[in-house]
Amino acid sequence: MNYKVSPSMLASDYANLEAELKKCEENSADLIHLDVMDGHFVPNITIGAPVISAMKKVCSVPFDLHLMITNPYDYIDDFADAGADIISFHTECDSDIGETIDRIISRGCRASLAVKPNTPISAVYPYLDRLSMVLVMTVEPGFGGQSFKTEVLPKIEELRKRCPDIDIEVDGGVTCETVKLAKAAGANVFVAGSAIFRSDDPAGVISQLKE
Ligand code: DX5
Ligand code: ZN
Repeated sequence: MNYKVSPSMLASDYANLEAELKKCEENSADLIHLDVMDGHFVPNITIGAPVISAMKKVCSVPFDLHLMITNPYDYIDDFADAGADIISFHTECDSDIGETIDRIISRGCRASLAVKPNTPISAVYPYLDRLSMVLVMTVEPGFGGQSFKTEVLPKIEELRKRCPDIDIEVDGGVTCETVKLAKAAGANVFVAGSAIFRSDDPAGVISQLKE
């Protein structure tokens, strides 16, 4: 199994994004997790394509976008142009899921579907043949710094049993402790925001998570 760490820039210092990205790059982060929120799908607003495009110019680590927006289909071209490598969007959104996956793939990006904690994992099953990754939320989407929901672990186990090879990403409350539970359940891509950027030793946390 190929394990990857994807630092969530949501918890980084937005006034020093270039330095924060370098910190991830120098400490062998595998992906950069970028949380896009529209204030509608979730009660919070973050960044959009122009900021991501600017970040792309100063970072060579692949960008892992997490779209928490109501109509992802309408913005796939913008995010592909901005430099997205993987695009996750939610099964609970209003866009047509199949059309959105096709649009992501046609733009040369890898497609991923995300599920909130209360959404059954079977929601992604009809699309598995076109997905590179499934993002299983271990907190309610919208905010960083929440606690890992262990009740989501059986969904990860179920998906891993069904798909031995797909990337399974966990997002929300991942720390050097909870990462072990997620890994044991079958996840292999670990998003961490607060655990990395709110620590005195971000480099140390990235390497501990990787271990
Ligand atoms: C929350 C976001 C997460 C968030 C995780 O909706 O999807 O990516 O940054 O933050 P932590 O790691 O602090 O729970
Ligand atoms: Zn996220």
